[in-house]
Amino acid sequence: MNAKELRKKYIDFFVKKGHAVTKSAPLVPDNDPTVLFTTAGMHPLVPFLLGEKHPLGKRLVNYQKCIRTGDIDEVGDPVHLTFFEMLGNWSLGDYFKKEAIEFSFEFLSSPEWLGIPLDKLAVTVFAGDDDAPFDEEAYNLWKKLGIPENRIAKRPKKDNWWGPAGQTGPCGPDTEMFYWTGKNPPSEIFTPDDRLWVEIWNDVFMQYNKTAEGRYEPLLQPNVDTGMGVERVTAVLQGKASCYETELFAPLFAKLDEIRGISAPNERSNSERIIVEHMRASAFIMADGVAPGNIDQSYVLRRLIRRAIREARKTGLQGAFTETMAKVVIAEYSDVYPELSVNSAKILEDLDREEKQFEQTLEKGTREFEKLISRVPPHIQTKIISGKNAFFLYETYGFPIELTEEMAAERGFKVDKDGFNAAYEKHQELSRKGAEQKFKGGLADNSETTAKLHTATHILHTALRKILGEHVAQKGSNITADRLRFDFSHHDKMSEEEIAEVEKIVNEVIGRNLSIECREMTVEEAKNQGAIGLFGDRYGEKVKVFSIGDFSMEICGGPHAQNTGSLGKFKISKEESSSRGVRRIKAVLQ
Ligand code: ALA
Repeated sequence: MNAKELRKKYIDFFVKKGHAVTKSAPLVPDNDPTVLFTTAGMHPLVPFLLGEKHPLGKRLVNYQKCIRTGDIDEVGDPVHLTFFEMLGNWSLGDYFKKEAIEFSFEFLSSPEWLGIPLDKLAVTVFAGDDDAPFDEEAYNLWKKLGIPENRIAKRPKKDNWWGPAGQTGPCGPDTEMFYWTGKNPPSEIFTPDDRLWVEIWNDVFMQYNKTAEGRYEPLLQPNVDTGMGVERVTAVLQGKASCYETELFAPLFAKLDEIRGISAPNERSNSERIIVEHMRASAFIMADGVAPGNIDQSYVLRRLIRRAIREARKTGLQGAFTETMAKVVIAEYSDVYPELSVNSAKILEDLDREEKQFEQTLEKGTREFEKLISRVPPHIQTKIISGKNAFFLYETYGFPIELTEEMAAERGFKVDKDGFNAAYEKHQELSRKGAEQKFKGGLADNSETTAKLHTATHILHTALRKILGEHVAQKGSNITADRLRFDFSHHDKMSEEEIAEVEKIVNEVIGRNLSIECREMTVEEAKNQGAIGLFGDRYGEKVKVFSIGDFSMEICGGPHAQNTGSLGKFKISKEESSSRGVRRIKAVLQ
């Protein structure tokens, strides 16, 4: 069975079971500033999982484009991907465990659908802990359907629990389905860690809401959220050891061979896998409107493209190739994802520009890198590339820090990442000052006013969450010398009373003369302490967290006032719609 047939069967099956088909949402979530990319089919459905009414009803099915960058360094081995497609079916407060498990079982085992023999199937269920009990219901449902007890493993939260996506929110136990890929029969007792048992599907039973205090409270509307990876399932059903051996990648490898003027090798190298994977992911990201750049999604895209180019050089491929590879992705996938062909001109143009730009510096940068390495005497035990040098490679030759780290690791070096971050921040600060200078056109320095407006924005953000609810999250912020502008997620126009309440809270906080403190910590620490703000995808990185007395805690690049007393009187001058589901406030300090 190929991927096209798999997608079709999945959709047909669930349509037969009363599900409406939803379109794959874009890879860049338009309503969630906490993540850079859509990472699972449930992602675009969060408001509906929390109880909002979905226009297509309570049973949904789709295939969803996803990007997960957590494993980016692993791409190159036969299993990891950054881009993948996920098949999923959802019950929004409709059916629950019984139907979900019965649907999964029928789709997997019935000859009319995937027809997987029972002796090649095994499942896991949640074993239970202090927060939630053993999922006996799921266990018994599988048993009743014919999965023998020795093929049902009970596993702890770390394996069989999904969500919440943030610190709080809907979550619950899951049951995972495994497929036996071995040539010989499996051992008597199912051991999910045996790599020949491959996980193919996950049914999540969202029945709890994790509160800010860490309690698991029953959810008013229990949901089902499932996910099946198209690439992986296609591979196992074809008896292939890796998704890279399926028809999903074959045309890409064939084109790569053609460009390199070689015939297909018996085995693909890591470099070849990285090139095809990253080119596929890049084309999809670009089809959703992202161009290579230095922040957020655009930076991830740049990393993918530049890494692919460097790997191409490793294989001896010298000329341009990214456009040609992207054309294959566009041709192969446009029937399923038409945004690829709709945006093909822009995709190809941006790739060409990025490739040329990087090409100009890659060689020189690599030589510079070699020089840096050769300066370190061989007897030195801990070989380090300083932050300053890593920043130099970044700024002068466009080497993403991750690329420098990767090249360094290949040579037994480490990179001083903290030093790099410090150099990067200093540079940002300088260019920000430079830009301010330009825009000010010689007017008096107003950075104190800017700082006050930054602080007022934080107070406003928390005040809005208190009055309108915790769904309020920053969507954008812009500060000029005389006003702040703040975009935030909220569907309805604010009433006069709500506006007055928010103003009152902000002015009360100003009146309390609270001091503002800044601390540096990792994103994880910031989240654990309850900080709000735009976290992006910056796991492990240090961020600045500003606390305003006990009132607000938020990550931010600053600058800020020293205490709220200096702010003056806060007034909302305008409240309007910014885009769908996003409101915009303009406010001044008088
Ligand atoms: N959201 C679940 C997953 O990604 C189904 O595994």
